[in-house]
Amino acid sequence: MHWWRDAVIYQVYPRSFADHDGDGYGDLAGIAARLDHLVELGVDAVWMSPFYTSPQADAGYDVADYRAVDPLFGTLDDFDKLAARARELGLKLIVDLVPNHSSDRHAWFQAALAAAPGSTERARYVFRDGVGDAPPNDWTSVFGGPAWTRVPDGQWYLHLFDTHQPDFNWDNPEVREEFLDVLRFWLDRGVDGFRVDVAHGLVKRLDDATWRGQSEGIAKADPSGEGPPMWDQDAVHDIYRSWRALLDTYGTPGDKILVAEAWVAPPPRLARYVRGDEMHQAFNFEYLLAPWEPDELRRIITESLAANGAVGAPTTWVLSNHDVVRTASRLGVSGPPMLGGIGADDPQPDPVLGLRRARAAALLMLALPGSAYVYQGEELGLPEHTTLLDTLRQDPTWERSGHTSKGRDGCRVPIPWRADAPAYGFSPTGASWLPQPPIWAQLAPDRQRGVEGSTFELFKAALRLRREFGLGSGELRFLDLGPRVLAAEVGETLVVTNFGVERVELPAGRRIVLASEPVEGDTIPTDVTVWSRTT
Ligand code: GLC
Repeated sequence: MHWWRDAVIYQVYPRSFADHDGDGYGDLAGIAARLDHLVELGVDAVWMSPFYTSPQADAGYDVADYRAVDPLFGTLDDFDKLAARARELGLKLIVDLVPNHSSDRHAWFQAALAAAPGSTERARYVFRDGVGDAPPNDWTSVFGGPAWTRVPDGQWYLHLFDTHQPDFNWDNPEVREEFLDVLRFWLDRGVDGFRVDVAHGLVKRLDDATWRGQSEGIAKADPSGEGPPMWDQDAVHDIYRSWRALLDTYGTPGDKILVAEAWVAPPPRLARYVRGDEMHQAFNFEYLLAPWEPDELRRIITESLAANGAVGAPTTWVLSNHDVVRTASRLGVSGPPMLGGIGADDPQPDPVLGLRRARAAALLMLALPGSAYVYQGEELGLPEHTTLLDTLRQDPTWERSGHTSKGRDGCRVPIPWRADAPAYGFSPTGASWLPQPPIWAQLAPDRQRGVEGSTFELFKAALRLRREFGLGSGELRFLDLGPRVLAAEVGETLVVTNFGVERVELPAGRRIVLASEPVEGDTIPTDVTVWSRTT
C-alpha cells in the first residue's frame, strides 16, 4: 500500500513553528532542529506552507520566485539540510505549490506591467479592458473588495485574492510549461509531494456575464454541472493529469503525491480531483466546517468515503489549518463555524468546552479510515488567539474586508516550546512576529510531555494505537448507540463519540483502550470519544 493512503500529515506553518536566527519569524533551520518533536508525536509526513521568495503580502502565498527560498526563512541550502534531516528521520516532506496566482513582484508580472496591452507578457496573466470606467465584471475577491485592479494604461488585471496576487492565465501554454518545470525543480531536490493551493481556481469562465454571486466559501456545483465561473471548472483536471504523469516518472509511480486544496462540494465533485490519473488526496473541508453534531458528521463521513471509494482514493480528514479558527476555540462557541477569525469584541469561546470537544474531535478523526491532517499546535490543544490587538493584524483580509472580518492571524501565532523561556521557546531572543497569549505557557510541550491526560500525550497515544490497530486502512461500519451518539467500528476497533447530555453505555464485551477524557467504568460522558476493543 502506498504510504500516503493512511498517513498522518503534519502541517508546519514556517513563520510560526520555530525561529532559529532570532528575528521573531520561524525559519527552515528552526524547523530542521524541531523535527524530533514530530517523530515523538508519531506523524508520517510534514507539509510546509510556502517559504519561497515573497514580499509576504499574504504570508508567503504571494510568490515572487518559485525556485528560491525567502531570506526570511533561510536559503536553498537550509532547505536541502532540512530535507536530508527529514529523510534521515523517516518523515516524508510535502511542499506548497501556489499556481493560481503569483506575487505582483514576480518577474513575469513586472514585465507584464511594463508591456503593452495585448503583449505576450500580459498574456501570462488575466488582463482585460474594463466596461467604461468599471471593471470587466463584478467578481469579488475572496479577501473582500473587487477582484480587479486597474493599471495606469487603463486595463484591469484579475486577482481572486489580494491585489498583490495577480491570477495566472492557465490557457497560456507558457504558464503550463513553467509550472511543470517548477514541479521538476522541487522533485529533483527530493520532495515527496505538493499541496496545491487553490486547486479549484486555475481555470475561469470570464465570459459568464450572468453570474452574480460571492467568490468565497465552498464552491457548490451540481454533481453533473460545473461550479461558479471562477471555481471548479472541468478544464482544471487536464492540468492535474499532466502533473500526475510527471510525478509518476519520479521513483515508483504513486510515491510522489499531489494534495488538492479545493473548496468544492458535494463530495462526488471533490472526488474528481483524486481520480486515478489526477491527484492523490483532497482536503475534506466539509468535514472541517461541520458543526459538532452527530447526524451531520455521520452524513459527511458516509458521503466522503463513498465518493472517494468510487474513484479508488483515500478520504482525508482535517479539522484545522492556517486559514480557519483553531478547533479548540471553534468548538467552544455555539453557532456556525467561523472562517473569519475572532476578535476581542466578539463573543469569546469557552476554553474548557472548546478543548474538551477538540480532544474528542481529534480522537474521532484519527480513528477514521484514510489520511489525517494535524495543524501545528493542534497536538498541544492550542486555542485561537482571540484578543489580538487590531493594530497588529497582518492578514490582508482585515483591510480588504473593511475590518468586517478579523482574518486569520489568530490561528497563526508562533507556537510554544518551553513554558519558562522567552517567547515560550519559539525564538532564542524572545522575539515573536505576533504576541503569544499567556495560556501558551501551560500548553508548551515541556509542560505536557509525560503528563498523563495531557493533549500532547493523548495525540501520541492515538497515533501509536492508530498504527497498531490499522485504523487508517480499516473498513468503517456505523452502529446505532442512540440519537446523540456517533459510533462506528473501524476494523476491530469501536469508536464512540457522545454528543448528548446522557451518559452512553459501551456495548458489553468491550474494553476502553483510549479516551479523550478520564472515564469511569464503561460509560461515556458528554463530549467524549473513546476507542474500545473486544476483551
Ligand atoms: C489558500 C491558502 C491561503 C491563501 C490563499 C491564497 O487558501 O491556504 O492561506 O491566502 O490560498 O493563496
